[in-house]
Amino acid sequence: MSFKVIFVWAAALVLASLVDECTGQGKKFVCSYSPAKALPIGYQADYIPLEVCPYVIFKSFSFPSFVGRQMLFSDNDKIEFSRVVSSMRKRSATARVVASIDGTGRDFAATSGTNVRRKAFVQAVASILLELDADAIELNWMRPSNGVFGVGSSINQVTMVSLLQDLRQAVNGLSKQMGGRNRELWFRGSLQPREIVEAYNVFDVCDLVDHITLDPDTVDSLENAHAPLYSTPITKPASKASLVRFSSNVANPGSGYLCQILRQPGWTTEWDNYGFMPYALRALQNGQEERVSYENLDSLRFKMDMVAQKRLGGIYIDYVHSDDIYGRCAQAYSQTSYLASRVRSIPSDIGFKVIFVWAAALLLASLVDECTGQGKKFVCSYSPAKALPIDYQADYIPLEVCPYVIFKSFSFPSFVGRQMLFSDNNKIEFSRVVSSVRKRSTTARVVASIDGTGRDFTATSGTNVRRKAFVQAVASMLLELDADAVELNWISPGNSNAGAGSSIDRITMVSLLQDLRQAFNGLSKQMRGRNRELWFRGSLHPNVIVEAYNVFDICDLVDHITLDPDTADSLENAHAPLYSTPITLPASVASLVRLPSSVIDTGTGYNSTIQRWIDEGCPQKKLLLGIGLHGVSKSYDRNTKLWVGDRATPGQSKHVEHREVLCQILRQPGWTTAWDNYGFMPYALRALQNGQEERVSYENLDSLRFKMDMVAQKRLGGIYIDYVHSDDIYGSCAQAYSQTSYLASRVRSIPSDIGFAIEWN
Ligand SMILES: *[C@@H]1O[C@H](CO)[C@@H](O)[C@H](O)[C@H]1NC(C)=O
Repeated sequence: MSFKVIFVWAAALVLASLVDECTGQGKKFVCSYSPAKALPIGYQADYIPLEVCPYVIFKSFSFPSFVGRQMLFSDNDKIEFSRVVSSMRKRSATARVVASIDGTGRDFAATSGTNVRRKAFVQAVASILLELDADAIELNWMRPSNGVFGVGSSINQVTMVSLLQDLRQAVNGLSKQMGGRNRELWFRGSLQPREIVEAYNVFDVCDLVDHITLDPDTVDSLENAHAPLYSTPITKPASKASLVRFSSNVANPGSGYLCQILRQPGWTTEWDNYGFMPYALRALQNGQEERVSYENLDSLRFKMDMVAQKRLGGIYIDYVHSDDIYGRCAQAYSQTSYLASRVRSIPSDIGFKVIFVWAAALLLASLVDECTGQGKKFVCSYSPAKALPIDYQADYIPLEVCPYVIFKSFSFPSFVGRQMLFSDNNKIEFSRVVSSVRKRSTTARVVASIDGTGRDFTATSGTNVRRKAFVQAVASMLLELDADAVELNWISPGNSNAGAGSSIDRITMVSLLQDLRQAFNGLSKQMRGRNRELWFRGSLHPNVIVEAYNVFDICDLVDHITLDPDTADSLENAHAPLYSTPITLPASVASLVRLPSSVIDTGTGYNSTIQRWIDEGCPQKKLLLGIGLHGVSKSYDRNTKLWVGDRATPGQSKHVEHREVLCQILRQPGWTTAWDNYGFMPYALRALQNGQEERVSYENLDSLRFKMDMVAQKRLGGIYIDYVHSDDIYGSCAQAYSQTSYLASRVRSIPSDIGFAIEWN
């Protein structure tokens, strides 16, 4: 019976329902959402991260009231619930919403004890499923016993089963009626030991319902820790021990506030050795002290170890808004992310017998691909030159999540006579990566990226002899070095202020790509069935797109365009901006130059530049958006409101490439964080001398969420991560690979183009 039980507690969540969708064997990950509690802090239903919360419990309907022989839920509750359902349906075709119904022991006892009332209640519940479109109902029968802790009746054990039988019958009937749409019955269970004994016919209850959600709030007064893993053994006389109680409760809306408490002077933190939870304390008057017990990644780890060890059916997060939703303490949604990744790493009940150990970040991936074969592309770039100094070897690249690896990079080949040759060092480095990939996977593919400045490529593409030599050098990469694809990184083409090449790049670029295409097609044929691909790195700088690309022809000739996030990093405040910051001109100037509006959209945000690629004729499915996981540090003058330099600390690189370093920065005193309202990215800032400040913009789960919404909305072909070593690979900040995992789960939840056509036509 234990596999049916969902363990519950107050904390937070993250990643996807993939395993469920694919195999039907995944552990459940559920988030509860209460408009009454979440809306006052501005957290709307639209923000619930459905990619990580495939189930949402709506909390909650008040107990329905009698009107004649009928029972009716309150109109307010219905409206709130409908809002949550609409928000979910418009964002996900698979997420499910559970309507939770609160009732005291007395409410439920009075209703379950007579036939007429039971019938009225079942009818009211059926209307939630039919009219309000709930996927499941959860009964929250609070304190059902009539012992010291309960407020119900001694016959609740019996009438509870009758009520659940009637509901089960109705839910089964409705599921049949709706042909294939399964409706579920859930039941909130207490963790209060007396109540379990007195009020529940556990065998029958678990037989009748689909899930039991174990309520973490039912034991908060039993131990020092409010959600204790183990009991404190009593060594004093029991009567004395029962006097050791806390005097009152403090509500803490959102961990953001909890962190603020913990950072105030006067507080110290301790660890409860029995509850396995941390608590903060400070002295009050009269020898009293305030203690705040809470969950952190350590306590969650112990709880998840137990969830895995007892093979429970999953967990629910109570409530999702209590996580660090706005990233005030650390990475936004850090606890939810951690819990989601732990839930996903628990083997299925079938798998359990076979496999005990499963690396968390890695299991997500290939499932949907295997299921549908139509998934969007998920690509990771790897640079030995950058990754090896922090000991991140090719063998560590998680191929289960990264079916494509871009090797970065070959330097431009040099002329030797009439031939062009790549450097031997690059070849050795590349071969190491290829060997590591081949020995671990038969399906993963390696893309060899070739760097070249505008000048390099311009000189090569402009003459026939050189083009031919270049094509031959590239062919040797496919043949001798066993690359699956080659990517050209033609840096800054064109000769505008953004380009470093020639004004005829637009033309010779197409010639070069034509020659390469022909060679690749020939090689693919020769190797029978092994397809070789030609990729092209595209700029997100609006000037380059306009001046240097014949977009229609380029996209026709290559298999994929990888949109480089580093090509737009100086255009906006945020280095990888989703939208442009509008410029407001004085009205007099606007009318002088006859502008329709004094507010100008500069068109430098990703939403505009990517749209430009699409509007100029690039098939969306060929576009792969680059996601840079590094931070970018620049200095800013507060007086002139202008950027004054690329890096604040002399001698340090503008790119903060390692997430560990980024996290350390964010935790140092003197830094505060802010959100760029146009770029849709967070940044950290600290004051420097002379009215200047250092600003480091970076990606977090919020900014990534907005980017992935756009990737889905524009139906791009996928994304590439730049670089995989810039994620939190060693778990120094939070869960290892938390951003890669999140991105992979989002990519997998985007409907395929075929599915999309069916859905939308
Ligand atoms: C993003 O681009 C799409 C397509 O051009 C457009 O419809 C949408 O309004 C843009 N969003 C914003 C917020 O500018």
